[in-house]
Amino acid sequence: MSNERLIPEEIERVLLDEETIAARVRDLAAQVSADYGDSDDLVLVGVLKGAFIFMADLARQLSVPHRVDFIALSSYNKGSISDGAVRLIMDTRTNLTGRHVLIVEDILDTGYTLDYLLRIFRAREPASLRTCVLLSKPERRKIEVPVDYLGFEIPDVWVVGYGLDYADRFRTLPYIAALKREVYV
Ligand code: PRP
Repeated sequence: MSNERLIPEEIERVLLDEETIAARVRDLAAQVSADYGDSDDLVLVGVLKGAFIFMADLARQLSVPHRVDFIALSSYNKGSISDGAVRLIMDTRTNLTGRHVLIVEDILDTGYTLDYLLRIFRAREPASLRTCVLLSKPERRKIEVPVDYLGFEIPDVWVVGYGLDYADRFRTLPYIAALKREVYV
């Protein structure tokens, strides 16, 4: 079925369609399942809000036992020049100490959010700590962070859909699309 009728006028173009995303999520899930096959204490920690759809799809494709949990963060000065300050809004409910923790993130932009998360999680002494990121914008990076599983590298354009928003809109579009520049500039 065509998604043509679902494309709002604020959208410039679709970067990644539903089938492309689904195929990549299956690949990532297969890699994660292979790597964690021997561990019985895997916890996926999704970063809200953006990662909620990626998390749901990835988790349901895993063939290894796992728990799911979430953390909510927000960056100060989003949309302007960020100084990298990140605010913790909601913590995980799972005790991460001694567990194999996989952070599930929708997008890596400056890197400040993931860097912050890695620092606070390391202090909790997990058995292991890795990152799974659906989208990365390498041009925007301010701080290098390790990515263990990556979906796609994308150009420096504002993307929405599949969990990603503009002013909290467009999160539930089934594809990932670039917003028209005049909407956000
Ligand atoms: C987005 C995204 C990442 C973060 C990445 O979250 O979900 O968590 O920004 O940016 P960074 O690499 O520059 O730190 P956002 O603060 O927009 O919140 P949301 O997920 O609730 O939309």
